[in-house]
Amino acid sequence: MRNIALATGAASGHPTRNEPAPGHNASACQPQGENVLDLDRFARVSLCHQPTPLEPMPRLSAQIGGPNIWIKRDDCTGLASGGNKTRKLEFLIGEALAERADMVVTQGAVQSNHVRQTAAAACRYGLDCHALLERRVPDTDREYENSGNVFLDRVFGATLEYREPGLDMNAEARRVADELRRDGRRPYFIPGGGSNETGALGYVACAEELIAQADALDERFDWIVMGTGSTGTQAGLVAGLHARGVDLPVMGISVRQTRELQIEAVHELAERTAVRIGKSGVPVEKVIVDDGYVGPGYGIPAESTLEAIMVVARAEGILLDPVYSGKGFAGLLGLARSGFFKSGDNVLFLHTGGSAALFAYEGALAEAAERLEKVSSAEHVVELDG
Ligand SMILES: Cc1ncc(COP(=O)(O)O)c(C=O)c1O
Repeated sequence: MRNIALATGAASGHPTRNEPAPGHNASACQPQGENVLDLDRFARVSLCHQPTPLEPMPRLSAQIGGPNIWIKRDDCTGLASGGNKTRKLEFLIGEALAERADMVVTQGAVQSNHVRQTAAAACRYGLDCHALLERRVPDTDREYENSGNVFLDRVFGATLEYREPGLDMNAEARRVADELRRDGRRPYFIPGGGSNETGALGYVACAEELIAQADALDERFDWIVMGTGSTGTQAGLVAGLHARGVDLPVMGISVRQTRELQIEAVHELAERTAVRIGKSGVPVEKVIVDDGYVGPGYGIPAESTLEAIMVVARAEGILLDPVYSGKGFAGLLGLARSGFFKSGDNVLFLHTGGSAALFAYEGALAEAAERLEKVSSAEHVVELDG
């Protein structure tokens, strides 16, 4: 078993890596005990195309000279072009129906993937969707305000209200839900990102799915890497792996907060989720976060984000997004280049979706593509000259 003491490790935003302790077991996905979790006891609807594919990325792995990169395609979960919210919404909408709600109330940024998928899930179950959109990202253009996710929210018929940044958006959404209740509606409140102990059950289920897939493929993974924002995805995964006794470190690449704040928030929800499934006691060391890839701020792609989007698109034909999975993959590439991941490691990237937002960032991406073209034609000239 690896001894990973990263939660309190490096003073910088980047974690440090300890060497495996002697006796490290070859199978990182070997559960200790056959305590398969009974998730059937929770209300749940069916929204997700699952299991999502778990595939190698051979061209990209060769291009960067290792580690061996794998990808879990949660961008292919179905539901309004897919993404991580599908798994959370199976439990959230299940609970809403069990409580006889007639609508859902939620919140997110203007380009929220969560709001897009929640609006779609509400349609599937005959619920109305009322969403508050925070103008969280500064200096946005027409595309950002109208295209991508927010355009799809309108296609799904969601009622949208806008808010200026800086409010407690969950408190605002609860307040709106209370008003609607006073008007005779039966709202079910879903927090931003679907991140509470109900939504996180979706990623407990994903942990189970991943363990079964790794066993079927007879593959051992050394790391999972993913973007982390409102925390439910990493928290659910960590809680699920802990509950199954699987020692597989999950590296969250923060898209917004500092490492310290993100570790605290993910751990708090992981523990609440573990309590919900009767497996409390998630060690804080299980929550690993790197905040070195946030760039200028939430919703603003760094140069490394744009590079990751272009590199993955051109090596593997896979779309990332400018807010979450692009930053997550930039983290994976940065950690590979710095030698944090060893060339023989099996590193699994959890693709959480988000490509609908690409259309809201057309300008930034077109410029990045142009820069890349210039670099590769300059390299070509050097090669010809040489
Ligand atoms: C595409 C995508 N990836 C990753 C995340 C982060 O997941 P979480 O909010 O559960 O931390 C989000 C959250 O909104 C997302 O939309």
